[in-house]
Amino acid sequence: MRRKLVAGNWKMNGSLAANAALVAGIKESLPADVCDVAVCVPAPYLAQVQGAVAGSAVALGAQDMSAHAAGAYTGEVSAAMLQEFGVQYVILGHSERRAYHGETDAAVAAKTVAALKAGLVPVVCVGETLEQREAGQTNEIVGGQLDVVLAALSVEEAARIVVAYEPVWAIGTGKTATPEMAQEVHAMLRARLGAKSAEAAAKVRILYGGSMKPDNAEQLLAMADIDGGLIGGAALKAADFLAIIKAAA
Ligand code: G3P
Repeated sequence: MRRKLVAGNWKMNGSLAANAALVAGIKESLPADVCDVAVCVPAPYLAQVQGAVAGSAVALGAQDMSAHAAGAYTGEVSAAMLQEFGVQYVILGHSERRAYHGETDAAVAAKTVAALKAGLVPVVCVGETLEQREAGQTNEIVGGQLDVVLAALSVEEAARIVVAYEPVWAIGTGKTATPEMAQEVHAMLRARLGAKSAEAAAKVRILYGGSMKPDNAEQLLAMADIDGGLIGGAALKAADFLAIIKAAA
């Protein structure tokens, strides 16, 4: 049985004061040993949040990283730099980066390789647009996004990733995929992982992201191939984030 992971993606939100209050609120009511928990924060706040989560069961995550180890890459942040701040998880290929920064499947694959080589846990995001879903292309698009990453990984590496299925049309919209819709795509992704190795299919956690909230988390997390959530808006409110964590029990 895979241990569930609930990760908050703060996106470009926060301040020193708000971050301190949010992490304190999460820590003070965090149920013991229910699932793995992480907060993925904007890079300028890594040092602050590293200190804030220290000694707790909340892990630190980042929202992107460079595929390069070091050098003339203005504005980029390397895996080694993230590790200096105790980062364990790194979100890669989020649909907002694919849309606004032209991140390709190949770029996401290269970043995944770099993250794994540095000992980070990549959370590889895949997901279709509403147009692609309505055109019946979901499996082709979403499965294809994962396949490009898996092709770049060894069998051993593939078992160490986390996948996040985030239907683009459900992100920030309040329009959540039904548990059945999400499970259908998660099962397809599990099959793609299985084509790489049985170990990858068994070990890799596939998170759902896209308007997961306290009132729908339990039904989503009850599905066989939904191993947790990648949470946006609800991660910015301690009570909502905690409610989703409790639903992962
Ligand atoms: O990465 C998680 C995010 O895209 C989901 O956002 O606000 O729909 O939970 P939200």
